[in-house]
Amino acid sequence: MNILHIDCSPRPESESRKLSAAILDRISAGRSGVTVVRRDLGRDPVPHADEGYATVLSAPGTLSAEQIKEATQLSEQLIREIEEADLLVIGTPMNNFTLPSVFKAWIDQVLRMGRTMDTTPDGRKVGLLQDKPVYIGIASGGVFTGENAQQPDFMIPYLRAAFACIGLETLQFFPLQATVFRSRQELEEERNALISTLRLPDSV
Ligand SMILES: Cc1cc2nc3c(=O)[nH]c(=O)nc-3n(C[C@H](O)[C@H](O)[C@H](O)COP(=O)(O)O)c2cc1C
Repeated sequence: MNILHIDCSPRPESESRKLSAAILDRISAGRSGVTVVRRDLGRDPVPHADEGYATVLSAPGTLSAEQIKEATQLSEQLIREIEEADLLVIGTPMNNFTLPSVFKAWIDQVLRMGRTMDTTPDGRKVGLLQDKPVYIGIASGGVFTGENAQQPDFMIPYLRAAFACIGLETLQFFPLQATVFRSRQELEEERNALISTLRLPDSV
């Protein structure tokens, strides 16, 4: 089994890092031959879309094949990491009601028209990647789900829409909420409770 493990928090002791590590442990437990490809966006962010890449997506007819190849090198590498994985495990904080910009910069590189998605004649997007499970651990300082939500959630609906665009529809979310109000022990208990809901993939 090949797992792509992505983290997005800049903090070494982060709750979303602990969550993604626990998801990884749960999935790997008792399996041999698990390989993990690491993409630590919190420590080593990918760059924002630059002039070349933005031109590929916005006005590709103005570029030569060689220029397109050069401008999409990073995008190709990141997409291949997804293609070669059997499943993805992602840990991310909530920042200002949504995902952190390091995660968004990665998304900007992997949602690419003509490569990971296409459009129908009536303008709908169709994903070109094979579906696979994506496990997403989210740490938020406050509460954004359920009756006690204190803030809007532009995170889970956004991630569902973004991943669906490229064909990844089997998402499971693990929201570890109110991190700033809870003790270390409470957070550990909540993390374990969330992990106990994890549905193991039957396809892999
Ligand atoms: C720039 C920034 C924005 C944040 N915005 C929110 C927010 O909108 N909602 C929320 O519940 N917590 C917010 N927080 C708190 C973090 O989600 C919380 O501390 C979380 O545990 C961070 O993840 P980590 O522990 O993996 O680093 C924000 C934190 C930062 C640094």
